[in-house]
Amino acid sequence: MRALILYMSRHGTTEKVALYLQQQLPFPVDLHRLDAASPAPDLQPYDLVVVGGSVYAGQIQTGIKDFCRTHQQELLGKQLGLFICCMNEKQAEAVMQDAYPEALRRHARATGVMGGELLFEKMSFWEKMVIRSVTGQQESVSKIKYAEIDRFAEAMAPVSVL
Ligand SMILES: Cc1cc2nc3c(=O)[nH]c(=O)nc-3n(C[C@H](O)[C@H](O)[C@H](O)COP(=O)(O)O)c2cc1C
Repeated sequence: MRALILYMSRHGTTEKVALYLQQQLPFPVDLHRLDAASPAPDLQPYDLVVVGGSVYAGQIQTGIKDFCRTHQQELLGKQLGLFICCMNEKQAEAVMQDAYPEALRRHARATGVMGGELLFEKMSFWEKMVIRSVTGQQESVSKIKYAEIDRFAEAMAPVSVL
């Protein structure tokens, strides 16, 4: 069993979630942070792929959307997990639908909304302004849903592979 978690993260929360998920899975898992300097790796060696990204202004990163669109056929041949990190739970279902093509969502063994964090120390001046005015939040807050990540890990690792 070769497994990969591929993710995008601006302030590190999705990376935290990916690391925690890696620790919960009962087999070795490679991590890949997708960005301009690290394009997607070859998926061919992997049996299982988890894709995760975070939500800004109601949308997941374009890089995650592009990756899923470009690799859709290959991903349909893998054991697949899809997740998002976000703060607005009311938006989450709509964001999930917009982020990942329907064929992938239907194929996925697990989908998850893992919560998020507002980390003021990592935000730009403009991000702080936007977050303060839109949410009224003044200080950093962490709302990562570890129980949801545990559930996701259990769904991705059925007893037969243990
Ligand atoms: C400028 C900004 C805009 C955001 N917009 C949204 C949003 O529209 N909906 C939402 O649910 N969360 C939103 N968030 C919260 C992020 O999804 C959350 O901070 C997430 O944990 C970021 O993960 P990352 O550090 O891996 O990128 C926003 C955060 C920032 C800083």
